[in-house]
Amino acid sequence: MEQQVPMATPRPEVFIIGAGIAGLTLAILLEQINVPYHIFERASEVRPLGSAMALEGNIFPALEQLGIYEELQQVSKTYVSVDFYNAELKKLGCVNIKENRVASGYHNLIFSRPKLYEILLRRVPAHKMTFRKKVLRTEESDSKVTIYCSDDTSYTGDILVGADGTYSGVRQNMYKHMDEKGLLPKSDLEEFSIGYTTIVGVATPPNPEKYPQLSAEHSCFNQIIYKDGANASIPWIANCYVVAGADNQISWGFGQQLSESYLRDLQFRNSEWGPEKDDNTLEQYRTFPCPLGGTLGDLFDATPKNLISKIYLEEKLFKTWHHGRTVLIGDSCHKLHPAGGQGARNAIQDAIILANCIYSMTDFSSADINAAFEDYYKQRYHHAEVAWNVSSGSSKILSGQKWWERFARYLVLNYLPDWLMRVNTQREMSYRPQVAWLPLIENRGEGHVLPQGFESVEAPAVAVGI
Ligand SMILES: Cc1cc2nc3c(=O)[nH]c(=O)nc-3n(C[C@H](O)[C@H](O)[C@H](O)COP(=O)(O)OP(=O)(O)OC[C@H]3O[C@@H](n4cnc5c(N)ncnc54)[C@H](O)[C@@H]3O)c2cc1C
Ligand SMILES: *[C@@H]1O[C@H](CO)[C@@H](O)[C@H](O)[C@H]1NC(C)=O
Ligand SMILES: *[C@@H]1O[C@H](CO)[C@@H](O)[C@H](O)[C@H]1NC(C)=O
Repeated sequence: MEQQVPMATPRPEVFIIGAGIAGLTLAILLEQINVPYHIFERASEVRPLGSAMALEGNIFPALEQLGIYEELQQVSKTYVSVDFYNAELKKLGCVNIKENRVASGYHNLIFSRPKLYEILLRRVPAHKMTFRKKVLRTEESDSKVTIYCSDDTSYTGDILVGADGTYSGVRQNMYKHMDEKGLLPKSDLEEFSIGYTTIVGVATPPNPEKYPQLSAEHSCFNQIIYKDGANASIPWIANCYVVAGADNQISWGFGQQLSESYLRDLQFRNSEWGPEKDDNTLEQYRTFPCPLGGTLGDLFDATPKNLISKIYLEEKLFKTWHHGRTVLIGDSCHKLHPAGGQGARNAIQDAIILANCIYSMTDFSSADINAAFEDYYKQRYHHAEVAWNVSSGSSKILSGQKWWERFARYLVLNYLPDWLMRVNTQREMSYRPQVAWLPLIENRGEGHVLPQGFESVEAPAVAVGI
C-alpha cells in the first residue's frame, strides 16, 4: 500500500510594501502565525521623523495582547485634556477627555512617533525586511503576484499588501488595472483634498526643569490658535501645539491652513516626510510665548534641524481596498487629518483585522484570498469612515480659521454638554478589535464593547508559533 506523506500546510507568501506603522504591525502579526512575509521599504534607512502621536483606549486591548502596551507606556505620558490658548496665551477653553479612561479603562497616551516606531521595528527580524526597495509596478496572474522595483529587481509571491502610505504605488497600480476593466468607482480617481500643511519636530531642551509639565503626573495637549489669516496670498499659520512627553522631550507642531488661491497655484508638493529647506515660516514665531514656559524659539533651538519635517496634509477615504491578490492597509486606503489623532490607530486596526482574516483562510486559493480580503473590508470600512468623519471635524475645531470653524470651536469650548461628550466617548471606545488567536483581554472600563466579529472562526488554518 502506498504510504501517504502528509503535506506541509501550504502558506501564502505575503509581500508587505512599506515599513511604516501599518506594515510593521502586520509583520509582527504574521510572524506569530508563521505566515511567510517580506517587507519592501523605499527609504534607505530608518529616520526618526515625526512628532506627537496619541493613542486611546480602543487600541490598547490589542496592544496588551501583543505585549506592546507596557513598553509603549514606558515611553509615553498620559494626557487628560486639550487646552486652547490664543497667541498671548490667554486660555480660550479646555476639552476634558477623562471620559476615555472611564469608558475604556485606559488613559490616553501621547508619545513621539519615533518611539512607537522603534518598539515595532525591534519586533521584526531584520532579515525579513529590505530597505532601498521602491516598488514601481505590480502585475498579477491568476495564481501569483509580481512586484517590480526601481533597482530593476522583481519578486513573485501570493499576496501583496500595500502599506505604502498616502501616495501608495500599490494602490495606483491596482487602480490602473481596475480602471482599465471598468471596475473602479469614479471617486477613487479624484484628487486628494488638501487644506493644511504641518511642520513638526521633537525638542530635547537642555534645561528640563524650566518646564513644569515635563515632571507633572499627566500631560495635556496645548493648542495655540493664531489669528493672522488676513493675507490670503500666503499660507497662514493657523495653530501650534506643544506637548510635554516622556524622557524630558517636547513634541511640537505648526499647522498652516492653505488659502484657496495658494492651493490653486500649488503645483509641486512635498509628499515625503523630511526636512524642508529654505523655510523661514518658523522664524516668524521665534519670539512667541510657549504655554509650557519660555518662547517657541527655545523649542526650535532644542530640536535637531534634520529632524524637523514639513508636509502637506492630504485627506481622502478611498472606497476600493482590494482586488485580486492585492490589498491596502493604513494611509494607502484612508488618509486622515492628524488632528483627530486617528491615523496610527486605524493603521494598526487594519493590520489586526487583515491578519485575523488571513489567519482564518483555508486553502489560499484565489477565491479564498478574495473572501478573506472582502471580510477584512467589511469589518473595517465602516469604522474607517467614522474615523474619517471625526478627523475632518476635529481638524476644523482644532485649527480652522474660517469664520464658521471659529464659531464651531467657540461652541465646543463653551457649550458642549458633558452628557454629549460622554455619549460620544462611549461610542468611540466601544470598537476595540483584538487579535483572533491570542487570549482576549477583558473589558477594563465601564463602556460597552462591540462583538469581536471572529466568533465564528473555526479550527486554525495555520499553526500558531509564538
Ligand atoms: C517619517 C514619518 C513621520 C510621520 N510623522 C507623523 C506625526 O508626527 N504625526 C502624525 O500624526 N503622523 C505622522 N506620520 C503619519 C503616520 O505615521 C501615518 O498616518 C499612520 O501611522 C499610518 O501609517 P502607514 O504605515 O499607513 O503609512 P506611512 O507611515 O506613511 O508609511 C508608509 C511607508 O511606505 C514607504 N513607501 C512609500 N511608497 C513606497 C514604495 N513605492 N515602495 C516601497 N516603500 C514605499 C514609505 O517610505 C513609508 O515608510 C508620519 C509618517 C512618516 C512616514
Ligand atoms: C501678503 O503677503 C505677500 C507675500 O509675502 C506680500 O507681498 C503682501 O504685501 C502681503 N499683503 C498684505 C496685505 O499684507
Ligand atoms: C460620515 O459623514 C458623511 C457626510 O456627512 C455621512 O453621509 C456619513 O453617513 C457619515 N458616516 C458615518 C459612518 O458616520
